[in-house]
Amino acid sequence: MSDNQDPSGNKPATQAVTSGRHKKWTGAVVNPPVWRASTHLYDSVADLRGGLSANEDGHFFYGRRGSPTQWSLAAALTEMEPGAAGTMLYPSGVSAIACAMLAVLKPGDEILLTDNSYDPSRSYADAFLKRMGITARYYDPMIGADIQSLFTEQTKAILLENPGSLTFEVQDVPAICSAAKQAGIATLLDNTWATSRFFPALHYGVDISIVAATKYIVGHSDVMMGAATTHDKYWTRLRRTAQQLGQVVSPDDAYLAARGLRTLEVRLKQHEKSALAVAQWLKTRPEVGKVLHPALSDCPGHDIWKRDFNGSSGLFSFELTKGNEQSRAAFIDALALFGIGYSWGGYESLALPVDPGKHRTATDWTMKGALVRLHIGLEDPDDLIADLAKGFEQFSIASS
Ligand SMILES: Cc1ncc(COP(=O)(O)O)c(C=O)c1O
Repeated sequence: MSDNQDPSGNKPATQAVTSGRHKKWTGAVVNPPVWRASTHLYDSVADLRGGLSANEDGHFFYGRRGSPTQWSLAAALTEMEPGAAGTMLYPSGVSAIACAMLAVLKPGDEILLTDNSYDPSRSYADAFLKRMGITARYYDPMIGADIQSLFTEQTKAILLENPGSLTFEVQDVPAICSAAKQAGIATLLDNTWATSRFFPALHYGVDISIVAATKYIVGHSDVMMGAATTHDKYWTRLRRTAQQLGQVVSPDDAYLAARGLRTLEVRLKQHEKSALAVAQWLKTRPEVGKVLHPALSDCPGHDIWKRDFNGSSGLFSFELTKGNEQSRAAFIDALALFGIGYSWGGYESLALPVDPGKHRTATDWTMKGALVRLHIGLEDPDDLIADLAKGFEQFSIASS
């Protein structure tokens, strides 16, 4: 698809700068100020009564429903997702996933989850939803239109993750969503890797597009936040569920996330360029087997990525062919520029040992070598490559 454009005809880089910056909320300043408030004061009892009836952003009511700082961020994310009616903000990506599932499911229902789902999404479905009388079943991420063979009367939602955040299979989202739509099943996508910039999810048929804003939206590894964006059909349900569950993000966090959003375009482009440079270099190394990066042909679903995505971000995995637990640890421990830590999407590079086989139930993980996940930050890729080369020296010593 070509670059997504808003109705004004502006391109994504312009949208990242202008979206959500409504004068009624920002006043004369560029960034929306931090409106800290639990109590909003009314002029009169009549005014108070009026405030009760309006349940939409832009009307002061009470702190839990936010203030211009949060409204402006939510509006920006909505404006950047073609086809969206609204966005709810949550205190983490996991809470966005959990609340979006609750918005479309009830006891007796079933949800189908992709087998490469982010592990906390799985454990939420397997433990919490199970207690609510909701069944979780897993499917092969590469299933495509055949997903319809799994549908039962009880199937009411499908969770997709595109690509999976450890193993990077690219799903055929349009095929899955089209089958789901015909059967009246809601589709929820964890779109954290691509964001609406690289994968405009609603355009491809997804009902609720979710991001851990903690990653690329915030971009500086200092705020936890989630967001779910949807079209008209699910907007009221998504909003009510979040409000009934008391979901709110702090204005300080919303301020920081909005600040991060303004540079999303340039950051994503740099993450993309540097990650591709590192991934291509890894392909030349004798220690490396497969490089699981959606823009490279080793990756399952690479052709779908080419068909559907506007770009690739900074997260991918690679296989150490003769790697075991010890030599993989020697490789990672030797890196000076890559931090060892969960999360990703910030300006810093990270390396993580990952073992996807542990989390699968519908499909087998057959890759033999040990897997390392890299997040490529905004450092110079030449320095990152030199650092990885030192890691391979230690890997070879540990392997011999
Ligand atoms: C793919 C993916 N989805 C969701 C999340 C959850 O986000 P958060 O950590 O903000 O709860 C993460 C976090 O690592 C993630 O990698």
